[in-house]
Amino acid sequence: MRIIEAKMQAIHPVDVEYIFVQRLNIPFCDGCLECINIGESSCPEYATIGPVAQKMDEADGLMLGSPIHTFNITGLMKNFVEYFMYKRNRPSFFGKKAVVTATASGGGHTVVLDFLEQTANAWGCDVVARAGISSTQTKKPKYIERMHEVAEDVAQTFVTEIRKGELGSPKFRHLMNFRAMQNMTRNQQGSPNHRYWVERDWLDAEYYTKVPINPLARLMAGYIARKMRKGIRKGNQKPYR
Ligand SMILES: Cc1cc2nc3c(=O)[nH]c(=O)nc-3n(C[C@H](O)[C@H](O)[C@H](O)COP(=O)(O)O)c2cc1C
Repeated sequence: MRIIEAKMQAIHPVDVEYIFVQRLNIPFCDGCLECINIGESSCPEYATIGPVAQKMDEADGLMLGSPIHTFNITGLMKNFVEYFMYKRNRPSFFGKKAVVTATASGGGHTVVLDFLEQTANAWGCDVVARAGISSTQTKKPKYIERMHEVAEDVAQTFVTEIRKGELGSPKFRHLMNFRAMQNMTRNQQGSPNHRYWVERDWLDAEYYTKVPINPLARLMAGYIARKMRKGIRKGNQKPYR
């Protein structure tokens, strides 16, 4: 992240604030669901989480990063993300660009980069670049050179996309995520989620934002969503094996 920041500074001066999750000193999210059922400010840790949410809200871009522990996201980062579960239900970061990064000694990058990308997407961000490094390689000149090339490319993309400030066009999986949330929210009448979706006319929409959508992807997502809804209504779902 520091290398990416340095490359960004060389392209265009940027104000970057680092938030170290460990230093937030938040306990484990106990799953009280107050953020979902009542509102985010009812979170028992809102005094800490609220200001972080505000900083993220005010930023033009987000960089989410984590070391890799046991071939997965760290417990620390997973816990942090759990405090923002409400933002998956009530996303607001549309137009905000994001980059995701991961550091392992050797392996597990894809799982972590995928998780961070899905998280930022679910909050409404457009994820414009990903980068994962292996710390055991960072003494090797050839690797250092490649790492800098990747960082340069990520920084360039990040700055360019922030400057452009256009809403990203959703991929098929984003349309499906939207439809899944839509199906769920339709059944939550009277909840903050439902109110939030009604206010934005999302319950009958095809996506959160009014951006061009690939017509085939739009049709497929709509068809699968209707089938899902029918299946849920009839209780056709099966336990996972
Ligand atoms: C509990 C724990 C689990 C780890 N699991 C993995 C792993 O699954 N794969 C891997 O490549 N590195 C693993 N690591 C190494 C970390 O990813 C590495 O320490 C981190 O990226 C920081 O790099 P550095 O120690 O070289 O500064 C693990 C480290 C710890 C402490």
